[in-house]
Amino acid sequence: MRTLFSLVFILSMLLAGAQKFDGLAPTPPMGWNSWNKFSCDVTESLIRETADAMVASGMKEAGYEYIVIDDCWHGERDSLGFIQPDPVRFPSGMKALADYVHSKGLKFGIYSDAGWQTCGGRPGSRGREYQDAQRYASWGVDYLKYDWCNTEGLKAEGAYLTMRNALYEAGRPIVLSICEWGDNQPWEWAGPIGHLWRTTGDIYNCFDCEYDHGTWSSWGVLQILDMRKDIRKYAGPDHWNDPDMMEIGNGMSVNEDRAHFSLWAMMAAPLIAGNDLRNMSPETISILTNKEVIAIDQDSLGIQAFKHIDEENFEVWVKPLAGGDLAVCFLNRSAEPFELNFDWKSNPMKDPDFDFAFNFTENTYDLLNVWSGKKQGTTMKALKATIPGHDVLMFKLFGE
Ligand code: GLA
Repeated sequence: MRTLFSLVFILSMLLAGAQKFDGLAPTPPMGWNSWNKFSCDVTESLIRETADAMVASGMKEAGYEYIVIDDCWHGERDSLGFIQPDPVRFPSGMKALADYVHSKGLKFGIYSDAGWQTCGGRPGSRGREYQDAQRYASWGVDYLKYDWCNTEGLKAEGAYLTMRNALYEAGRPIVLSICEWGDNQPWEWAGPIGHLWRTTGDIYNCFDCEYDHGTWSSWGVLQILDMRKDIRKYAGPDHWNDPDMMEIGNGMSVNEDRAHFSLWAMMAAPLIAGNDLRNMSPETISILTNKEVIAIDQDSLGIQAFKHIDEENFEVWVKPLAGGDLAVCFLNRSAEPFELNFDWKSNPMKDPDFDFAFNFTENTYDLLNVWSGKKQGTTMKALKATIPGHDVLMFKLFGE
């Protein structure tokens, strides 16, 4: 009886000790993920070349850090149940690949699923969480994207908690990226569990469309922007709303890509590129590495933008920044040009969730156009400009 009591006591202490690895994502994670461009077509050479390209393109220098292999890297479990990579696609094994990524000064991410199988039909982690977490830690994994296919009978909060505890016990700090598409309101419970959580279904490579797969849909940039309106108050340092990986460089127009990147930065979204880094146009590189826009995303306050003006084709988004500064993004949702005539003084901006207010009658701000890189006057004068179709004008405002 005494032994049983001690056992129960030790077990409960161990369980009580499990937690999330705190402090791994003080600002939204930045990196690359294979899924949007390559879907199941992942190999170790792709990952090595992508790590090389992240350095050579200047993306690492701009802040991108994680190289994440999404679905379909898996082979079979070994006789003891440990997961192995596909021996044809990853002949050198995951440890060697992680070492290579680390040798470039980058971090290494991998993908699994809380159910029996991943969305791509590979072995999932259900019932194997502690074993998988041990294996990932031994390979040198730094980031786990954990999906939600084939999870019949499971409760999301409990399933993600199990993997969180498994990772903690394995002992290697690993960012936990929760991917259950916002179906179970993760913003309400995932703060102590993961570092980021998907808020929507999958993104689709278009600016304004819904792609119907039959039983589910994937969504364009504007559709994702419009979903989950009232959850900005749940995000912040180490616990981010994730509107999905980016489609920049995958075929949208330069205007659309610029708007997409701007909006993700305004939302303090994780900036996970989803294109082929080995073959990028100069425009794609310059969008993905725009320092001012990245700084707005990565601002230390970690506050998502609120919508100040919401008209059919025209929106104004406002993101409070550290030090009393702010970012303002004028979005033209239509395909036609929009004539902007914006009087700052008659537009006091009040944050509906946090204690921020910007009043341009009382205070004057200098304007930095973050896409042209040029100073553009102050808030004393009305702002007049033409915004091309499916594009933005975006400013950082500095208090004088
Ligand atoms: C789900 C996720 C995607 C991707 C695929 C892989 O759809 O939401 O981001 O990981 O699975 O199969």
